[in-house]
Amino acid sequence: MEKILITGGKPLYGSVEIDGMKNAALPIVFATLLVRGKCLIKNLPCVSDISRSLELIEDLGASVKRLDKHSVEIDSAGVRVRSVPSDLSRKMRASYYLIGAELGRFGRALVGYPGGCDFGVRPIDQHIKGFEKLGAKVNVEGGYIDAFAPNGLIGSNIFFDIVTVGGTINVMLAAVLADGITVIENAAREPHIVDLANFLNTCGADIKGAGTDTIKIKGVSELHGCCYTIIPDMIEAGTYMTAAAAAGGNVEICNIIPKHMESVTAKLEEMGVTVIENDDSIRIIRDPDTKIKSCNVKTLPYPGFPTDMQPQLGALMCQADGVSMINEGVWDNRFKYVDELKRMGAQIEVTGKTAVIKGNPDRMTSASVRAVDLRGGAAMVVAALAVNGTTDIDDIHLIERGYDNLVGKLTALGAQIRKITVVPPDQAFNVAN
Ligand code: EPU
Repeated sequence: MEKILITGGKPLYGSVEIDGMKNAALPIVFATLLVRGKCLIKNLPCVSDISRSLELIEDLGASVKRLDKHSVEIDSAGVRVRSVPSDLSRKMRASYYLIGAELGRFGRALVGYPGGCDFGVRPIDQHIKGFEKLGAKVNVEGGYIDAFAPNGLIGSNIFFDIVTVGGTINVMLAAVLADGITVIENAAREPHIVDLANFLNTCGADIKGAGTDTIKIKGVSELHGCCYTIIPDMIEAGTYMTAAAAAGGNVEICNIIPKHMESVTAKLEEMGVTVIENDDSIRIIRDPDTKIKSCNVKTLPYPGFPTDMQPQLGALMCQADGVSMINEGVWDNRFKYVDELKRMGAQIEVTGKTAVIKGNPDRMTSASVRAVDLRGGAAMVVAALAVNGTTDIDDIHLIERGYDNLVGKLTALGAQIRKITVVPPDQAFNVAN
């Protein structure tokens, strides 16, 4: 069992390089199943969700050559349609992209129900509605999603009832080789949707409008291999931005697209943090002796404030002078991390999808906490960097699903952080005996 120990209360200085975006890389890895020929994917983040996605497609018969830490060559020629057992699909949410990719390539998919962070109910009714509009018959039974298009998929108009990132991506994957034109209305506009469209178009697809709420996909008969570089991870970047704001100091966040950070930048500025934008980097400056101002935020689909930055901002709000309010506009239950912040002295009241945070840096202390999920774990890191004393964070495998080399990157910024292996008491007893 591994833990992270952070002795906080020390400002951060220096620069940090941001990796490729996990939530763009995941659909692109699954999209290679649709391609005839080899795909060279660069700037892949080295995180456990990506390793699992590569294992999943290897298991289906894809040849996956890891060229270096961030590059992989994928050849899906040998992929055959077969069921993906739920013990594999449950390991990650993005396994549901296998449904769109397999349906698109074979007209058939049998995939165990996906897993992922627990934010309350996580339905996939909109994905299913999209597949059905394209002509597939979909059954959900015994923990499996069984999708079958006996006459092949046929382009159609799909209007999503809610904005869904996964639903938009899944329908894009299914429609790219379908017969005719598919139009997705009320589509998600996240940068990772644009990145997937750019990847598919580089392989010969005909997708227009990605990044707007109307995406038009003209089905093509086949996709060819390509070389593609994943965009930088806006959530990893935002996490380091809030970490620098919470601890204070002067940190340059490099290899990013500042435009993607606008909603986070605006909130940090509102909280009195200096944010300087350059072409492909952002500098965060905060004098540790100045107070952070409170603010209110509502999370929304892009370009609104990202729900995946909500816990990290919540941790920063605990350091603010005054009362802040968070309204979670995407997920039903994304406040599990609040109980962990309370262990550190935070005063937070949660009612439904709203959290009221009485910021008071003097009350915040180090504690033993755990990562309740990926971004909840990132929030603990942000909180720990700001407080005096040593905080230990448990269940860090959840953080490692989405952050590569967190300890190394923060150490380079001057943080006192280390990873330790703890032998559980029962095993220690066995060793002793
Ligand atoms: N929803 C439905 N029906 C559907 C699909 C979604 O009601 O068929 C609802 C969800 O319950 C939620 C809302 O729509 O309330 C938005 O869900 P969305 O489909 O957009 O989320 P997702 O695709 O499952 C991705 C990211 C999440 C991120 C959300 C929102 C991946 C692998 N996951 O999830 O990322 O929170 O979009 O931006 O891309 C993370 O990286 O930590 C993470 C959880």
